[in-house]
Amino acid sequence: MKHIKNIARMKEEVAQLKADGKTIGFVPTMGFLHDGHLQLVEKAKQQVDVVIMSIFVNPLQFGENEDFDSYPKDLEKDLHLAEQHGVHQLFIPTAAEMYPDTMSIKMIVQRGADILCGSSRPGHFDGVATVVMKLFNIIEPDIAYFGMKDAQQVAIIKQMVADYHLNLTIVPVPTVREKDGLAMSSRNVNLSHMERQEAPHIYKTLAEAKNKALQGHFKTVAGLEDWVKQALKRDLKLGRIDYITCLKFPELIRPGALTGSVILATAVHYEQVRLIDNVMWEQF
Ligand code: PAJ
Repeated sequence: MKHIKNIARMKEEVAQLKADGKTIGFVPTMGFLHDGHLQLVEKAKQQVDVVIMSIFVNPLQFGENEDFDSYPKDLEKDLHLAEQHGVHQLFIPTAAEMYPDTMSIKMIVQRGADILCGSSRPGHFDGVATVVMKLFNIIEPDIAYFGMKDAQQVAIIKQMVADYHLNLTIVPVPTVREKDGLAMSSRNVNLSHMERQEAPHIYKTLAEAKNKALQGHFKTVAGLEDWVKQALKRDLKLGRIDYITCLKFPELIRPGALTGSVILATAVHYEQVRLIDNVMWEQF
């Protein structure tokens, strides 16, 4: 596996791969790899010739009071895992390499950014779109892989690809979970022991709500959200609910009724970490 820190070098590698007629699959990450990230790699290996992963903790997508400084890192372990899982090239730029100067032109997400995570993290998706656009231009992938744990990110990046006529396909990959249901996340290590014990309730409640919805238990979208709110308020002693929202997916608009493709998403604040999770279903 090659590790590349420099944008010019990465572009040379990409040019060579293209000249050799290889297809490129791209897995962007912020590192501290877990099975969720590695599942994206597994999916890529089935579909392309060469898998390129990036590891870059993008300062632009963190708000002032967020966890940029405490974001977990273990580059040595990441190198090992990436290599073991058959990543061909790892792009690990520094912040100075990616942002040599304040950017004069930045991506601004107009639609889908003022709801869910966007409302509690203003500017977050602008930072995500900016870095992903830069990475797409460096790596020039045929296919890029994104996890459904960050469903709003998937919807926004797909929209960016459509709006800017980018020549690539976005492939969403289902959320990978711990045995107790907690969605895998690099941030889970920053949960206290007690918080870690409580956190699986989040998915348990979402999954139960989905089952109830599929059985026609809820008359309205608000009724569904309210049920989840009550259940989480009852079960979470340490976590504080940020939002519980049901939307149409991928449009990210409020459904008039519980029909079609629906996402039920939540975010919960713990002492050092904010966890997100979601479930999706089709209802006819
Ligand atoms: P990061 O949180 O490191 O996630 C990298 C990719 O892994 C994202 O597509 C994310 O949705 C996916 N992922 C994380 N946990 C997952 C899980 N449990 N199951 C399935 N997929 C999972 O998302 C980012 O980084 C950044 O915003 C990035 C896109 C790299 C831009 O900076």
